[in-house]
Amino acid sequence: MLLRVMVLALFGQISLMEVSADDSIKPLLSIFGKPLVAEEIPKDKAARSIVELGRVLYHEKRLSRDNSISCNSCHDTKAFGVDGEKFSVGFNNHLTGRNSPTSFNAFMHLAQFWDGRAPTVEEQAKGPILAGGEMAMPSAEAVVKKISEIKGYEDLFKAAFPNSFPAITYDNVGKAIGAYERLFITPAKFDKALAGDLSVLNEKEKRGLKTFVTNGCVTCHTGNLLGGNIYQKLGLVKPWPNQKDQGRFAITKREQDKMFFKVPSLRNIEKTGPYFHDGSAENLTQAVKVMASHQLGREFSNEEISDIIAFLKTLTGTLKPSVAAYPEKFPD
Ligand code: HEC
Ligand code: HEC
Repeated sequence: MLLRVMVLALFGQISLMEVSADDSIKPLLSIFGKPLVAEEIPKDKAARSIVELGRVLYHEKRLSRDNSISCNSCHDTKAFGVDGEKFSVGFNNHLTGRNSPTSFNAFMHLAQFWDGRAPTVEEQAKGPILAGGEMAMPSAEAVVKKISEIKGYEDLFKAAFPNSFPAITYDNVGKAIGAYERLFITPAKFDKALAGDLSVLNEKEKRGLKTFVTNGCVTCHTGNLLGGNIYQKLGLVKPWPNQKDQGRFAITKREQDKMFFKVPSLRNIEKTGPYFHDGSAENLTQAVKVMASHQLGREFSNEEISDIIAFLKTLTGTLKPSVAAYPEKFPD
């Protein structure tokens, strides 16, 4: 009898402890909003045709001047939407001036690019094809002409854009690629926690979450993407060492936008290094240290950094294999 009471008391205490630990985590999670939910390739024939055309175009090297580079070269659907380089190699071995951000989950951002200069993924997609240092096609007309000369494309565009005459236009190239990118959603362990199952997070990850929230990382890396929602000054507390790229200032020409960049999403951050627009941090430990000092004026202990990184790793997710798949064949 006594033993039973003791056992009950013991279990009671354990569950009480668990409840109180999780009770302190729940309000932290509620800050981030809803879990990410992946989407299937649409079943509806019309919607599906656009997505499948987008898949082909996203991987189509003939959209570049020398048929050597596709979107996928710098944003691999099987490698977390990046190429793992400090700067990417574009046409004629040109190095891009900024680090390639991941294309995964990007359609949900307030705008595209480090400086937000394109409003949507559809508009964004029309940039790199014509950018001299990326895919280097001479003009939108040249792209349309080149695609039109590849026989199989006519039918694919007609199926995808039945109400557009002609079907092959530069705008429709952007629309199709954008439709494909709108399936780039990567739910992760963190989303199970957001949906209410706290048991998926271990103690270290929970500590990391707390450190991330209570120290203010979350003031900039907000929402369920942990970023992508606002612009902020890089070097808010301590000036950024590399002032060559002034971010949004180049677009708006307003003094107060100097060194403002889009706060990047931290989804899949474990896999998308090197970090920052200038690729200046090789690994996540460096990146977190630099954020703490330059954005918050803080110095974390090694343990706090390792906790934050454990938490950030819960944001690593995957595309549905049906979305990540390369096209089975290209038109010829
Ligand atoms: C040579 C490498 C390269 C190629 C090819 C390339 N990109 Fe990019 N991409 C970049 C770089 C670098 C940036 C960041 C540029 C900036 O912010 O000024 C970027 C930015 C983006 C973004 C914005 C993501 C964000 O978080 O803001 C998306 C989306 C994207 N690219 C999709 C594409 C698509 C679609 C294609 C093909 C039409 C493509 N890219 C071709 C290197 C490349
Ligand atoms: C005042 C706003 C602000 C705060 C606070 C902040 N960040 Fe950032 N963070 C940014 C901005 C802006 C960038 C983009 C920098 C750039 O242009 O290279 C960034 C970039 C990053 C990157 C690199 C992302 C990439 O794709 O290269 C990581 C990792 C990161 N932050 C983590 C953190 C962590 C962890 C904290 C808390 C210690 C934190 N940040 C606090 C604004 C902030």
